[in-house]
Amino acid sequence: MGIRRLRLLQGFVLLSVIGNCCARFVVEKNSLTVTSPEKIKGTHDSAIGNFGIPQYGGSMAGAVVYPKENQKACKSFDEFGISFQSKPGSLPTFVLVDRGDCFFALKVWNAQKAGASAVLVADNIEEALITMDTPEEDGSSAKYIENITIPSALIEKTFGETLKKAISGGDMVNVNLDWREAVPHPDDRVEYELWTNSNDECGVKCDMLMEFVKDFKGAAQILEKGGYTQFTPHYITWYCPEAFTLSRQCKSQCINHGRYCAPDPEQDFSSGYDGKDVVIENLRQLCVFRVANETSKPWLWWDYVTDFQIRCPMKDKKYNKECADDVIKSLGLDGKKIEKCMGDRNADADNPVLKEEQDAQVGKGSRGDVTILPTLVVNNRQYRGKLAKGAVLKAICSGFEETTEPAVCLSGDVETNECLDNNGGCWQDKIANLTACKDTFRGRVCECPLVDGVQFKGDGYSHCEASGPGRCKINNGGCWHDSRDGHAYSACLGFGDVKCQCPPGFKGDGVKSCEDIDECKEKKACQCPECSCKNTWGSYECSCSGDLLYIRDHDTCISKRGTEVRSAWAAVWVILIGLAMAGGGAYLVYRYRLRSYMDSEIRAIMAQYMPLDSQAEVPNHVSEDRA
Ligand SMILES: *[C@@H]1O[C@H](CO)[C@@H](O)[C@H](O)[C@H]1NC(C)=O
Ligand SMILES: *[C@@H]1O[C@H](CO)[C@@H](O)[C@H](O)[C@H]1NC(C)=O
Ligand SMILES: *[C@@H]1O[C@H](CO)[C@@H](O)[C@H](O)[C@H]1NC(C)=O
Repeated sequence: MGIRRLRLLQGFVLLSVIGNCCARFVVEKNSLTVTSPEKIKGTHDSAIGNFGIPQYGGSMAGAVVYPKENQKACKSFDEFGISFQSKPGSLPTFVLVDRGDCFFALKVWNAQKAGASAVLVADNIEEALITMDTPEEDGSSAKYIENITIPSALIEKTFGETLKKAISGGDMVNVNLDWREAVPHPDDRVEYELWTNSNDECGVKCDMLMEFVKDFKGAAQILEKGGYTQFTPHYITWYCPEAFTLSRQCKSQCINHGRYCAPDPEQDFSSGYDGKDVVIENLRQLCVFRVANETSKPWLWWDYVTDFQIRCPMKDKKYNKECADDVIKSLGLDGKKIEKCMGDRNADADNPVLKEEQDAQVGKGSRGDVTILPTLVVNNRQYRGKLAKGAVLKAICSGFEETTEPAVCLSGDVETNECLDNNGGCWQDKIANLTACKDTFRGRVCECPLVDGVQFKGDGYSHCEASGPGRCKINNGGCWHDSRDGHAYSACLGFGDVKCQCPPGFKGDGVKSCEDIDECKEKKACQCPECSCKNTWGSYECSCSGDLLYIRDHDTCISKRGTEVRSAWAAVWVILIGLAMAGGGAYLVYRYRLRSYMDSEIRAIMAQYMPLDSQAEVPNHVSEDRA
């Protein structure tokens, strides 16, 4: 079966949909503003290339360069010894190249390799802007398209000439590419659609699509479960022109009597899977979504699609109903409902689900017809650029009204890598490895960090410091601290306006230094006549001569032992005062002590009149007497 004839047929079927009525292909644009020189200042539309990574939600400034040779950029710039690497501190280079002679993607790839930060392709004919797409199924191009990371835009021929003239006149041409309005952002929920296909054998595009779905699943499910997005999958189908409905091609590619068709996966009608099998699986995936959506778990579609890819690939001959049913079962979906939703594939009648898909293919409002597969539509605008997790998340995130975007948009998942360069100009503490620079889809923001539950406060650019009770945990709150011989001291105060203050026993500013106070030399303590003073780090030691005991609270020496009655009574007084302060609880102890003291006094008197066995017995007698 001739492949060419098949292609012709596909083209015909596709055309018959688009050519039907008021077909409209909307080119997604971003704006390009010339900021200098003065004489050509102004804003122009440019069409976002469908590869590379456009900076959805952000903008990018650069200096335009038009190479003297290789102006169509179809060859590697290496051969001409040309480099676009911008010097440190200067604006990134935007390379202006001419349309023609080779694929758009190749021009952009060559410019990227030579160090360009973005590419502007000047159209070579006067026409309305078109979308620069990736080449179809070209084996050699596939390798580099994946690696294009810079954004590209097509500009109109006349505008291109204006730029070239200014550059050749010796002007420094600076432009600003702006994607901030590329996706409307009216509210706090983003609606997005993916026009996809269950065919896993269509080459590079199918591989890219499958990779994307696998990669993006996690983020998609977080967004959907959080109610931040409403996602709807869509599947493109074609229909067979009426004159061909009974042909072998249409019979093998279509269901419902030529109404819904898909191209043969291997482009060979006689072997492998037919287009019809693809349509049926597409229909099943649509129904999986509907049934999952009815049970308020629309995100199960992502699970089904990725599981099906892994478990039921065409190459293992498992791309069939049986395998699909296993996946449906393992996800706990209602297989009967899904079967019912799919309807009768042999009926000579419309299938409501697929009919809706065909209708949706035709553009509405700002969206335009869907003709490129896969296509992502965000807030009713077609996404242009590489179908990769980071880039797509950026586009979806730019669809939220500012400040309503979910955390996933502000996390490391959406990296601009602007923090890598000079820390994005934000505050940082290199020693403690802390930074205020955060990558978000809008570019970097300088925001004081939250570290181990401690919020840093400040402007985020030149100044951040830990605040709140936990502040002393982080780098000791920026205050002095030191430890010696197992003693640690810190000048950090967790509360109040004063942040750093030397602890008692030290003097200094509390930030850089606190010095030990020599209490002995400075006559701050241990000054009584019997005292002898020894300074230590952060404190002092005081001892008393003879039998005297040092009382630190009163900084004085007192007698240790009550051998004389007088001193014993003095001791009782000390106890009495102590007890009075200690309160009633200790009263009994006092009484007992006093009693035993009195007992021993009485005993000492009685001993003068009669012999006693031994001293040790006395307390026992006393206790027996009491009992
Ligand atoms: C693209 O990038 C991958 C991984 O970074 C690399 O292995 C491959 O050689 C690159 N392809 C081309 C054409 O440079
Ligand atoms: C999915 O469910 C939501 C709300 O339950 C509804 O608004 C939406 O139209 C449904 N989508 C489809 C494709 O049925
Ligand atoms: C600093 O912290 C970052 C992230 O927390 C980490 O990736 C990096 O390795 C750290 N660097 C050093 C020098 O500790």
